[in-house]
Amino acid sequence: MELNVGIGNVQLKNPLILASASYSVSERGLEKYIRKGFGAVITKTTTIKPLKGSPLPRIFWYDPDRKLMLSGAEAVRNPGMERMYRSIAAVKKLAESENCLIVGSLAGNTAEEMNHIAKRFVEAGADIIEMNMVCSATGPHLGPDYERLGSYWSQTPERAVEAIQGVKSTVSVPVWAKCSLSSMIKEEFINKVDKEARPDAYSFIGGKIPCLVIDVETGKPKFPGNVLLQIKKKIPICPMSHGPVKASTILHTAYIARLTDTPLIPSGGFYKGEDIVEAIMVGSSAAQICTAIYRNNNAANVFLKDIEAFMQRRNIESLGKLRGTSLQYIPAPPLLKAHIFS
Ligand SMILES: Cc1cc2nc3c(=O)[nH]c(=O)nc-3n(C[C@H](O)[C@H](O)[C@H](O)COP(=O)(O)O)c2cc1C
Repeated sequence: MELNVGIGNVQLKNPLILASASYSVSERGLEKYIRKGFGAVITKTTTIKPLKGSPLPRIFWYDPDRKLMLSGAEAVRNPGMERMYRSIAAVKKLAESENCLIVGSLAGNTAEEMNHIAKRFVEAGADIIEMNMVCSATGPHLGPDYERLGSYWSQTPERAVEAIQGVKSTVSVPVWAKCSLSSMIKEEFINKVDKEARPDAYSFIGGKIPCLVIDVETGKPKFPGNVLLQIKKKIPICPMSHGPVKASTILHTAYIARLTDTPLIPSGGFYKGEDIVEAIMVGSSAAQICTAIYRNNNAANVFLKDIEAFMQRRNIESLGKLRGTSLQYIPAPPLLKAHIFS
């Protein structure tokens, strides 16, 4: 059975990628997940200087009992480029021996900052760079260090091209662009970025839902610190969670797969191995998982067993050959529509 998949020219031993989040902020975290069987691990998104993130509470379950709806409200809390350089360098040998690729995730307020971090990460041993141009928890309300972080860079195709071109011309490893979904479903965006910047893959968060929960004991809403700060500063809010929204991720992946030949690596609501198979069937090359890890840090093992059982049951030899096989049954845009409300 072949679990390996290709993302452009890069081969992964399996399609499971540890998505960027707080568990991959340190050498210890990276080491732990490299040992857990992932095809690749992505570092916490890192900036030039350390960022202290949003106010508490940060890693915020809207439903702590069921652990389905998690807000990624850390706002890129990270130890800074030099600290992450040392973490990547420290785990490089282990990653090689486990055949696990290291993806350095970065964000910057300027294209120059991003180029600089990319260069340092590759010097440390990163096999791939992922540019975080999506984080919605960041924003000017957190201070000047946050003015142009995250989704700022994928709001327009011009900014995305500027950012990706810069990093692509600085390093020779593959560059993945993690863009906001509302941009990714626009043909003008993808066409321009594909043509002028040529990222090696797009990653995106396919399913996000606006949400509100009330603590019935107090009658007050429960919000992460990031949203509380917005309320204090009288900034309009739309609290979001990554929830069991896989169906939305699948639809958007099927849609985007029709707009571009660039490899796709979605995340958003993947909770079991079959979810990854589904994503591959609608055109993903691989998939990222995050919330599933906060629920069970052995999730990779469970996912891989599910995938193997599926392949055995269906007598499938190569996972990579399943890519896009379901698209023939789904209408293509404009008959298939995708609307984003945020
Ligand atoms: C607590 C938390 C922190 C996150 N931090 C980052 C980050 O630093 N960089 C990034 O690109 N994505 C970040 N994400 C987004 C995840 O990488 C992933 O794309 C998203 O959670 C959707 O996947 P999921 O449904 O499996 O959780 C974060 C998510 C969470 C919940």
